[in-house]
Amino acid sequence: MSHSPVFNVSPETLSRTRVNASQYAQMYARSLSNPEAFWAEQAQELLEWRAPFHKTLDWNFHTADVRWFEGGKLNVSENCLDRHLATRGDKIALIWEGNEPGDTRSITYRELHRAVCETTTLLRSLGVKKGDRVAIYLPMIIEAAVCMLACTRIGAVHTVVFAGFSAEALRDRINDCGCSLLITANEGLRGSKTIPLKATADVAVEECPSIRNVLVVQRTDAPCDMRPDRDMWYHQALAGLSGADDSTPEPMDSEDPMFILYTSGSTGKPKGVLHTTAGYLLYATHTFRYVFDLQEDDVHFCTADIGWITGHSYVLYGPLSNGATSLMFESVPTYPDAGRYWDIVERHKATIVYTAPTAIRALAKEGDEYVTRYCRDSIRLLGTVGEPINPDAWLWYHSVVGEGRCPIVDTWWQTETGGVMISPLPGAIPTKPGSATRPLFGVQPLIVDEQGKELLGNGVTGRLCIRFPWPGMMRTVYGDHERFRQTYFSTFPGLYFTGDGCRRDEDGYYWITGRVDDVLNVAGHRLGTAEVESAIVRSGAVAEAAVVGVPHDVKGQGIAAFCVLHADFSPTNDTRTKILATVREVISAIATPDHIWFVAGLPKTRSGKIMRRILRKIGEGEYSAVGDVSTLAEPGVVAEIVQLVETSRATKK
Ligand code: WT7
Repeated sequence: MSHSPVFNVSPETLSRTRVNASQYAQMYARSLSNPEAFWAEQAQELLEWRAPFHKTLDWNFHTADVRWFEGGKLNVSENCLDRHLATRGDKIALIWEGNEPGDTRSITYRELHRAVCETTTLLRSLGVKKGDRVAIYLPMIIEAAVCMLACTRIGAVHTVVFAGFSAEALRDRINDCGCSLLITANEGLRGSKTIPLKATADVAVEECPSIRNVLVVQRTDAPCDMRPDRDMWYHQALAGLSGADDSTPEPMDSEDPMFILYTSGSTGKPKGVLHTTAGYLLYATHTFRYVFDLQEDDVHFCTADIGWITGHSYVLYGPLSNGATSLMFESVPTYPDAGRYWDIVERHKATIVYTAPTAIRALAKEGDEYVTRYCRDSIRLLGTVGEPINPDAWLWYHSVVGEGRCPIVDTWWQTETGGVMISPLPGAIPTKPGSATRPLFGVQPLIVDEQGKELLGNGVTGRLCIRFPWPGMMRTVYGDHERFRQTYFSTFPGLYFTGDGCRRDEDGYYWITGRVDDVLNVAGHRLGTAEVESAIVRSGAVAEAAVVGVPHDVKGQGIAAFCVLHADFSPTNDTRTKILATVREVISAIATPDHIWFVAGLPKTRSGKIMRRILRKIGEGEYSAVGDVSTLAEPGVVAEIVQLVETSRATKK
């Protein structure tokens, strides 16, 4: 793809940017030749410390132990709030756009600080202490930000669970890390739907022995059940403090846990990705500033939910630590119609828009009119994250949304990395549609073949690894360090393995090609095939299931499930409905399969291993590319499956 067009930044943009091409090259070289000096300097420049660190880095990728800024003490909420009060007290910290267009609220740094202090006092009055785990199951409302920041003020470890997750998913996360408090809302609003959060939380908490209290934010007027010995309304509890103040920030050690965020892997249950205080905060702060080329008057519109890492790093911590204005959006891009993002941009004068390729594709489909009817003059930079962006979607984003004048930063990273790892810096790096371009400062990517041999030079394709620690990397899987070591450091000993395939082109640009493990990326949401399979089997109708990703023109990847039914179930619509309902109940609507194919048997090796490669090819419609099936236990099943899928697709169209 050396013919891919190259986009340079306009001279006008260039004149304002923080870093130009030669500065990038210089800084990048220095961040590699002396990473410790580079990050020590960033840490001193970008964060406020209560006590200085005495050792910048200690690491071992064989045992999966990484420690940054040892000896240092700091508090996240102090860095995000208190330190800005003198200079930015009256600056807007958060702009909130609610579900209904124009239902908005803004909160200054001073007001947010006060709200966080009050909530800190409240949480402490409920017995929440440093190190305790607090589950947050809230919609995109300002209270969510306040509660997260209050946790960091105390040094409590928050675990935010996306409000679209089911009771079971919530229960499992709470139990995995033993939360003592759950913060939720009576209900949430998303487009024309209401989400019964408290009712769902009640079901979850039934089976969560560690939960002592449930705090309920009143988002709507709808009533909900309250258990008097356990539940309390957030606003009433705050009012009950009658002016008491117990909000002194806890000085935290650099490596004290900051938060846990659950994400899917290729095997088993979602794992609790643990991030620690100084490294995470520094990395979110640093990458936000450089990737988005932060200017003082920016209004940053990141469309992600705080239930995902993007929301943590680029709705909340990165922007606030930098003293920026961040926009929180409660609803969906298509409510009330496909113009909503641009309506928001126009009304709030957003300068940066950061969203996912799946949203871009969905909106592009609706036509340019929804975009062009709004004024986008305020936008100076566009960003994407979550999955590879196809050049068509990139070009539409660039020409229609950005009127051809805004650089696009295609940012590759993961829940595990804490912040952006590979991305153009606007002004410094010319872009190519579909490529995340080059590594950020301190990031040392390499590409290896399946045996782990490094592929040197340009024009190579293989698996993406990272050879050196960066401050924002996860430190462990909560409660299971061995799983952490195994998952990320054992495939290619001595290297962090990302799970992604990648090509480095002739110009040294990185092109992420997608997961090479059993992880799906559906509309930017990460799901494990094993997780979806076990949910399907839970329906009771299915004896055995194999799930693969299939190309989907909006979601990027869709889910195809090959199911072998139990003898007493037949391949009817009822059975299908039962399976779909179970998946929603066990995981969430985001895991709903796009195709369910009832098959007589699955292609297996003689040792009983399911040959997903074959199913993937069939799912992709590449029936002739299934390859040699002679080594299968029952080669005949492949032809049967092909025929079934072909027929099902033909009748669907
Ligand atoms: C996986 C991580 C990091 C925030 C959102 C997703 C894919 C992410 C890109 C990109 C190509 C991307 C990778 C990665 N991914 N960004 N710009 N280009 N692929 O976080 O849920 O932890 O998923 O998303 O496959 O491994 P996540």
